[in-house]
Amino acid sequence: MFICHTAAEIREFVRGARAGGQTVGFVPTMGYLHEGHLELMRRAKKQCGVVIISIFINPAQFGPNEDFTQYPRDLERDVKMAGDVGVDAVFNPTAEEMYPAGYCTYVDVERITERLCGLSRPGHFRGVATVVTKLFNIVNPDKAFFGQKDAQQVLVIKRMAADLNMDLEVVTVPTVREADGLAMSSRNIYLDAGQRQAALVLHRSLKMAAGAVASGLRDASSIKQLVIDMIKTEPLAVIDYVEIYSHPDLEPVDKLWGPALLALAVKIGRTRLIDNIILEVLDHVSHDV
Ligand code: PAJ
Repeated sequence: MFICHTAAEIREFVRGARAGGQTVGFVPTMGYLHEGHLELMRRAKKQCGVVIISIFINPAQFGPNEDFTQYPRDLERDVKMAGDVGVDAVFNPTAEEMYPAGYCTYVDVERITERLCGLSRPGHFRGVATVVTKLFNIVNPDKAFFGQKDAQQVLVIKRMAADLNMDLEVVTVPTVREADGLAMSSRNIYLDAGQRQAALVLHRSLKMAAGAVASGLRDASSIKQLVIDMIKTEPLAVIDYVEIYSHPDLEPVDKLWGPALLALAVKIGRTRLIDNIILEVLDHVSHDV
């Protein structure tokens, strides 16, 4: 596998792949890989001739009181895991390579960033949109793969790619979960045994809400309240937000009439976890339950 730390080197690698007639798939990550990341890479490998991943803990997307310095890292392990699923190249730049002295250009996606994680983490999506734009410009992929686990992130990236005429396809990959339902996340490592158990309340409440919708409940605030009540039964859980928006436009909804995103952010101890589900309304008939 090809491993490099500079934009010039990975560009050269991509040039070679294209000259050989290969399509290029790209999976941006912050490393400390788990099955969720690996699933993105497997999908990329199925759809593209050459797969490149980036491993870069992007300082621009962390707030001043967030976990940038503690964010877990293990490059050697990551490289081995990526190699095992067929990744061809790893781009692992330094912060200086991505943001050299004098750096002052940022990408701001409006509206859909002004809710959910955009409210709890001011500046977060500006950092994400900026680094992903830079990575797209460096790697120049045909397809880029993002997880539904970060539902708002993939919508922001899709909006940005469309708005800025980026010549690539953004592919969404379903959330990969542990056997007991917890969405895989590099941050799960922060949880002790009791917190790990408490964290199950996120998925449990999402499933409960999907069940309520399947039985005919359509009122968004009632669905939200059911979720809030269930999360509050878990003493270690502190709600950051529980929200329902139309999907994929992220417009407010009162009554569900089409696909809606139910998204949660919950703190378990000092660890902030997010999860989501798309509530499907199959009958398109509204019930006042
Ligand atoms: P990171 O958290 O490392 O995630 C990298 C990619 O893996 C994202 O697209 C994320 O949605 C996906 N992913 C994480 N957990 C997943 C799971 N359980 N199932 C499916 N996909 C999962 O997201 C970022 O990094 C950064 O914001 C980044 C896009 C790299 C920009 O810095």
